[in-house]
Amino acid sequence: MSNQTPTIIVTGGAGYIGSHTIIELLQQTDYIIVSIDNFSNSNADTFDRIESITGKRVKNLNVDICNLEALELAFGTIKNPIGIIHFAAFKAVGDSVNMPLTYYHNNLESLINLLKISEKLQIKNFIFSSSCSVYGNVDKLPVTEDTPFSKAESPYAHTKQIGEDILINYVKSNPAFKAVLLRYFNPVGAHNSGLNGELSKDKPNNLVPFITQSAVGILPPLTVFGDDYDTRDGSCIRDYIHVSDIADAHVKAMNYVINDNQKTNTSIFNLGTGNGVTVFEAIQSFEKVSEQKLNYKVGERRAGDVIKIYANNNLAKQELGWDPKNGLDEMMLSAWKWQLNLGKQK
Ligand code: UD1
Repeated sequence: MSNQTPTIIVTGGAGYIGSHTIIELLQQTDYIIVSIDNFSNSNADTFDRIESITGKRVKNLNVDICNLEALELAFGTIKNPIGIIHFAAFKAVGDSVNMPLTYYHNNLESLINLLKISEKLQIKNFIFSSSCSVYGNVDKLPVTEDTPFSKAESPYAHTKQIGEDILINYVKSNPAFKAVLLRYFNPVGAHNSGLNGELSKDKPNNLVPFITQSAVGILPPLTVFGDDYDTRDGSCIRDYIHVSDIADAHVKAMNYVINDNQKTNTSIFNLGTGNGVTVFEAIQSFEKVSEQKLNYKVGERRAGDVIKIYANNNLAKQELGWDPKNGLDEMMLSAWKWQLNLGKQK
């Protein structure tokens, strides 16, 4: 092995979860971090924000991961790569229904290309961004990692189910390779400094950015999608998890594979707090921390919404030593600080 400091490659490093993970990697480890991001749904300014928080500048390679030749050239410039954290993917559920081929192509071709290169360069440690959407509509809550997949509710969710299978089968064929599949529940919030947060080019469809942008007047009042579900207040239940806690899990997962602590060469972990929160409870928390009333109305149910889902996170706690630190109020407060920092910028 080379004496050079090992490098961890983060695809989608300018994105929401990728950038928060880079911050945690820079603060918690000595690895060199290289990002690969073509800014298809992000912005190069992210690296300034990372630098303002960590004091460190991260190199980004502007490459489309679906372009194998270009990707190989980019990897050729990276010294002593030992691990990949693969975030880069499309994630808008509604778009995936309208543009399934775009989603299958982007989310799966990129994964296959990275695995081909990992094989060639013998990069053995791989962390994959999966999603709780792989479970579909389930009968029994909370979901554990053994809960069987139901039918995917969207092409996006299907790309995550297939992506997991690709990795599981690849690891079987290549026992030197180690993978961790992280199933995110609902990542929300921003860095607690308020200096980095979600800034996608898409108009937000997700609840928390919609709340904060609506509160500053960029977006119209929030519509709560249905209050007649069979839940404690009639609105849907989700397991919201602070983005920095999600990021911290990636650092732990990378150390876990590098230090050979895995029981089997593929590990799967749910990343949620284990608390189910309704839409109205999320709004109340926002109103409390922002000290203002949110203007909202109740509307129709949204097609394709899962009624309730939350995680059993025991396995990630036991195996990774992970323990999410932030509660709902911290998630909302950090999202609000970030929005105030951005002002009326989308
Ligand atoms: C979905 C996906 C998740 C994906 C995420 C990324 C599923 C089951 N989940 O999360 O895998 O990673 O998108 O985009 O497919 N809500 C409102 N009004 C709004 C917006 C949302 O009431 O304007 C409600 C929704 O009905 C839902 C909750 O807020 O109950 C959260 O919605 P959202 O933030 O869009 O996330 P998911 O749909 O849970």
